Amino acid sequence: MAKIIDGKAVAARVRAEVAAETAKLKEQGIVPGLAVIIVGDDPASRVYVNNKKKACAEVGFKSEEFALPADTDQSELIALVKCLNERSDINGILCQLPLPKGLDDKAVIKTISPAKDVDAFHEENVGKIMVGEYDFLPCTPAGVMELIKESGVEVAGKECVVIGRSNIVGKPMAMLLLHQNGTVTICHSKTANLAEVTRRADILVAAVGKAKFVTGDMVKEGAVVIDVGMNRDENGKLCGDVDFASVEPKCAAITPVPGGVGPMTIAMLMRNTLTAAKRQNQVSDEAYEK
Ligand code: GUN
Repeated sequence: MAKIIDGKAVAARVRAEVAAETAKLKEQGIVPGLAVIIVGDDPASRVYVNNKKKACAEVGFKSEEFALPADTDQSELIALVKCLNERSDINGILCQLPLPKGLDDKAVIKTISPAKDVDAFHEENVGKIMVGEYDFLPCTPAGVMELIKESGVEVAGKECVVIGRSNIVGKPMAMLLLHQNGTVTICHSKTANLAEVTRRADILVAAVGKAKFVTGDMVKEGAVVIDVGMNRDENGKLCGDVDFASVEPKCAAITPVPGGVGPMTIAMLMRNTLTAAKRQNQVSDEAYEK
């Protein structure tokens, strides 16, 4: 029987740490502030944004939502980001992706001040991740690293396989595993003999965005399997990229969906916002564990 890695519990621990530090900051008159921009009415984005705002309230941050209609002009969105860059009460700026068709997410990300880029999507922060000098850890990959730590498995020397090469998850995920001395392979839609590659993995991270894509025959006996997916199955039920029923009996540890990676992404966002608030207020910051 695999160990089920409890993302909810680990996330609650991270949020409690953030809340304790936030209480200390408040004694100095500093309240971390996060601006959350949502454009259009994508239901999944609405759920994510609501959860992010709820987490802010829980750790003691101020959050401000900017809900814009789907037909918002690119220039209006850019103007909003520029305005938020200038506000001293806003330490972090997040624009929920994907944006509606016609809006250029890259231009929006480029406009966010790197010091307030708590998603770590700006190319300046992406560059820092490449060279291992983090200001902000990318939220989902950082959350995955915490869950791997929770599984008790050491990354150094292990075969790590990441399925998915997105800028948000796959690529930075590979970097974080590499920084911990994993031997890393990134798989994608053009990978030949995918199951052969994934069966090599001691640590398998699935970030493909396809319901139950990873099946038991693709997993090595005793692997640690991390499921980044958030999909609906044929019955409309929430499920991950991993077919839990066939994979769980084979692996040593696995994250469930829901209750695995999802809560961690938000907890790491809280950590990044706290870091941003400390840096912007010249409060000393212990370096992240790398
Ligand atoms: N859409 C899906 N994941 C994310 C995320 O981590 N941040 C933002 N801004 N949008 C997303």
